Amino acid sequence: MGFHDLVLLFFSAWIVFSISSCNAQLQSSQIEVLLQLKKHLEYPKQLEIWKDRWTDLCSVSSTLVDVSCKDNFVTELIILGDKQTKVRDFDGFAIPNQTLSQSFSMDSFVATLARLTNLRVLSLVSLGIWGPLPDSIHRLFALEHLDLSSNYLYGSIPPKISTMAKLKTLRLGDNFFNETIPNLFNSSSNLRVLSLKNNRLKGPFPHSILSITALVDIDISSNQISGSLQDFTGLSSLEQLDLSKNKLDSSLPSMPKALKRLFVSRNSFSGEIPKHYGQLINLQQLDVSFNALTGTAPAELFALPNITYLNLASNVFSGSLQNHQKCSSQLRFVDISYNRLVGGLPYCMSNKSENRVIKCDGNCLSGNELQLHQHAVSYCTEAHMIKKSYRPGIFVGVIVGILMIIVVLALCIVVVWKRYCLGGMQEQHLLNKTVQDSYSGAFSPDLVTNARYVFETAKLGREDLPMCRTYSLEELKEATNDFDNSTFMGENLYGKLYRGKLESGIQVVIRCLPLSKKYSIRNFKLRLDLLAKLRHPHLVSLLGHCIDGVIGEHNDTKVYLVYESVSNGSFQTYLSGNSSGKIFNWSERLSVLISIAKAVHFLHTGMIPGFFKNRLKTNNILLNEYWMAKLSDYGLSIISEETDACGVNGESHNSWQMKKLEDDVYSFGFILLEALAGPSGSDKREAAVLNAMASFNSQHQDSWKEIVDPVVQATCSRESLFIVISITNKCISPESWSRPSIEDVLWNLQYASQVQATTADGDQRT
Ligand SMILES: *[C@@H]1O[C@H](CO)[C@@H](O)[C@H](O)[C@H]1NC(C)=O
Ligand SMILES: *[C@@H]1O[C@H](CO)[C@@H](O)[C@H](O)[C@H]1NC(C)=O
Ligand SMILES: *[C@@H]1O[C@H](CO)[C@@H](O)[C@H](O)[C@H]1NC(C)=O
Ligand SMILES: *[C@@H]1O[C@H](CO)[C@@H](O)[C@H](O)[C@H]1NC(C)=O
Ligand SMILES: *[C@@H]1O[C@H](CO)[C@@H](O)[C@H](O)[C@H]1NC(C)=O
Repeated sequence: MGFHDLVLLFFSAWIVFSISSCNAQLQSSQIEVLLQLKKHLEYPKQLEIWKDRWTDLCSVSSTLVDVSCKDNFVTELIILGDKQTKVRDFDGFAIPNQTLSQSFSMDSFVATLARLTNLRVLSLVSLGIWGPLPDSIHRLFALEHLDLSSNYLYGSIPPKISTMAKLKTLRLGDNFFNETIPNLFNSSSNLRVLSLKNNRLKGPFPHSILSITALVDIDISSNQISGSLQDFTGLSSLEQLDLSKNKLDSSLPSMPKALKRLFVSRNSFSGEIPKHYGQLINLQQLDVSFNALTGTAPAELFALPNITYLNLASNVFSGSLQNHQKCSSQLRFVDISYNRLVGGLPYCMSNKSENRVIKCDGNCLSGNELQLHQHAVSYCTEAHMIKKSYRPGIFVGVIVGILMIIVVLALCIVVVWKRYCLGGMQEQHLLNKTVQDSYSGAFSPDLVTNARYVFETAKLGREDLPMCRTYSLEELKEATNDFDNSTFMGENLYGKLYRGKLESGIQVVIRCLPLSKKYSIRNFKLRLDLLAKLRHPHLVSLLGHCIDGVIGEHNDTKVYLVYESVSNGSFQTYLSGNSSGKIFNWSERLSVLISIAKAVHFLHTGMIPGFFKNRLKTNNILLNEYWMAKLSDYGLSIISEETDACGVNGESHNSWQMKKLEDDVYSFGFILLEALAGPSGSDKREAAVLNAMASFNSQHQDSWKEIVDPVVQATCSRESLFIVISITNKCISPESWSRPSIEDVLWNLQYASQVQATTADGDQRT
């Protein structure tokens, strides 16, 4: 062996030694896998610390990336990305800049992962991973914690996950899983935390979950789980259960003693709160708001030793709270608003005691400082009786009959009494009260500061509008001459419209629509109640309703909604020049747009829950005899929920907004566009307009002149116009996350209007 050979041998030995010492912790095949994962994930910035195969992957870590190793194997892999799910609609295809590219394959990604055979912790969050989660994930049999939240996974949750016997934590929230939840686990499972929140999971609640006795925390909120729930008492370790924002509609199930936090808001739960909830001594937070729960809440709930948060809002709770009711010293927040409670508030729930927030608007409670935000007692007791009459049972049928007759008689007496004895005064008093109701309490400061405006519009003939009430079919037939053809006004997605005149002389528009079968009467009335609460000077007011037929099995149940009549036609007709007479100049257009933006802002924020899908378009903007703009057809998605039908008889097709009516800001953008450029007319012109809008602010400074309506050009100041063009462009942006809020839009319009007013003397016009 020559000297050179010796040197070579020594040198190669040194290389082998140094490689193995650098990566003393890890087999080279494991390194290979990690580097392949980096490639699968398309070289995200946070993985730049994995430079190459010579990097000691087990010891480089950052706040976003962590690898732990043991006995030459990777045992923990945590990568936190920055691709948070921003879209609401995901159709299973890659989205540039949000998901990984079209060439990403979930199958080969998981196949690569599965080679990390000793992995105990796997957390890959917000990395834009997309595709169905393959069954082969179960090959990671040593896994104890699996977190794939905030990605773009869809399809079903692979049933074979149940064979991963060591799994303790499964987090698949904020994805797009859209099938039913399979029967995943059984009593031998060790699962402690299950989070499937914010997906699109459908079907019934998987009752196999109730056999996983180790479970501590279940979160399936914000899905579309429907049907009923069974007894949860078997889950003896359960501390937190979140099922809010689903479509569950049974009564509330029994709960285990260990429970600390229970969230079931925004479902359709009915019946009473089970008595034993008052004995859940570990309970700290309970939220049952926005359901159809009835009866009285167990008094013990308020006094549970550790209770801090209690939300019973927007149900149908009735009866009164006991005056000597005790509250736990821990209790910090109680919301009993929008129920049917009567009587006074217990001392421990008045604001005088301790630092406790109490919300109680929208009941029939008495007490001096409360009265402004409360209904008359009859409102609560009526609903109470109706509720009772729908309780099922064999003998109850007979009782129901008798009760109904009594109710009808009582109502007749009340109606007659009101009409003949009390006259208009009482009604006006009540009306004033509702107006006050709607402009204080839960509403935004912006609307409260507009109170002066409300007062002025009240003088413009709103005082004759009666409170929302139930009408009989006979009254409506009389008002419309038995729905005579001459009173028929047209038809759209939300049913047929008739013109009518009530006995009291008020002109109304009556909308007739079939009742969706998916609602129970209680739930439906609750929804109507919500709609009726929406009173705003720029909303066409709902005056009442009438339900014809029995809700339930029959298909032909109809609902009639009675609206105030707004007589001067739609904004669209004036924009298209189809109407003789009035021409809207730029300031007048701005004023209409501001009114409608205020109405939309009210719909979004004036109420909880807000009303978001309002199918905004210019032919839903109506003008009254004082040229005041009012929005119609708002909020109906909560009772109809059929928003996809384009081309229903009578819908006009030449308006821009037929495109997409799902997002209010987006469709408001098209209203702005129409106010700027007139109705689109044809696809070709539409494309030209959108094109010109897009190139605004770039080199073609004057391209807008070709599209902006000549009336606008002649009457606007340039700056004012540019403010509106720029906010319009933001509203109609294809990416929903980059659109402004309606508040922003309103602000910009008001600013544009001010600019217009200060330059209106003519010399700055274009
Ligand atoms: C689930 O989503 C995918 C992708 O959008 C779609 O192809 C599939 O039809 C959906 N499945 C169901 C049951 O809706
Ligand atoms: C989206 O990605 C493209 C390149 O694919 C890039 O040019 C563009 O700036 C990105 N957009 C955003 C908003 O990040
Ligand atoms: C629970 O499920 C696992 C995996 O599917 C199975 O091996 C086990 O036998 C089941 N245990 C019981 C008690 O059903
Ligand atoms: C209430 O909370 C305290 C501390 O948070 C705890 O020590 C106590 O056991 C709890 N009481 C009950 C009845 O759960
Ligand atoms: C208690 O105070 C809060 C805020 O100060 C108020 O919103 C609420 O209506 C008050 N409740 C009662 C019962 O006075």
